[in-house]
Amino acid sequence: MQEQAETIQTKTETAAPLVISVKNLSVTYIGRDGEQTEAVRDVSFDVSDKPGCGEIIVFLGPSGCGKSTILKAVAGLIQPTKGECFVDGKLIKDVGRDRGMVFQTYTSFAWLTVRKNVEYGLKLQGIEKEKRRGLSGKILEEVGLAEFAERYPKDLSGGMKQRVAIARTLINNPRVVLMDEPFGALDPQTRWGMQSLLLDISKRENNTIIFVTHDVSEAVYLADTCYVLSKRPAHILERVDVPTFPVKDITLKSSAEFRTVENQLLNMLYNKSGKD
Ligand SMILES: Nc1ncnc2c1ncn2[C@@H]1O[C@H](COP(=O)(O)OP(=O)(O)O)[C@@H](O)[C@H]1O
Ligand SMILES: [Mg+2]
Repeated sequence: MQEQAETIQTKTETAAPLVISVKNLSVTYIGRDGEQTEAVRDVSFDVSDKPGCGEIIVFLGPSGCGKSTILKAVAGLIQPTKGECFVDGKLIKDVGRDRGMVFQTYTSFAWLTVRKNVEYGLKLQGIEKEKRRGLSGKILEEVGLAEFAERYPKDLSGGMKQRVAIARTLINNPRVVLMDEPFGALDPQTRWGMQSLLLDISKRENNTIIFVTHDVSEAVYLADTCYVLSKRPAHILERVDVPTFPVKDITLKSSAEFRTVENQLLNMLYNKSGKD
């Protein structure tokens, strides 16, 4: 049984290969005193590969429902109590370079410049300086930080610090980027700018982003596909394919079509996640 679970079929004649496959994921934490907290119950989803095109999958759920726990299981930071997670058909047993994670709190090294923070992962891999410079230059340009390459994190705003975190993850070119409420600590205007930046990045990069939030508007703005989660223990209430809006800019959020999808998701969250 265990051996069968090591790999899954990622390509069939009818289905596209799967980048991510999560099967019946359940997580129950056991505290030091033996107290059990069931965080995730039987969550299953597949993300198929769309070659040459980035995709954003959003998990929307109330605070404390188990969103971070789902991400941590895919990251390989925690082991499922039941079920399995696969990336490109490989069973996740540990963290790996095919997955990068961006957290809500800033995670840069205070003693390194922006450029050195961004190059850190490449340095660990033993990639030589010239190549590191080339790659960091490109990615810093992409996140709008080229002018700030020699600054230290303490001299940056919250939004800029999160750009560093995003750049540091993207430079490793992970197959899957896991983002845990990365804009949650930012003021609304910076947050909107960061959401637009993420959409731009996703268009250019060919990776899959799993983005977790409790903010309905953020979910509608970013998601290609949105999974609405129940309150704890998190399970999937609905999968929503968010319509492709012709133009995504600041006016979209106040448009009737955007509001309609927002209301649809709000109803799902509050009608169902409050019940059982
Ligand atoms: N290491 C842990 N030990 C015990 N309980 C935990 C641990 N991590 C999270 N929890 C609990 O699991 C539930 C889900 O947490 P989490 O996945 O962080 O939710 P979310 O990200 O949706 O806010 C919460 O009740 C939280 O207190
Ligand atoms: Mg969380």
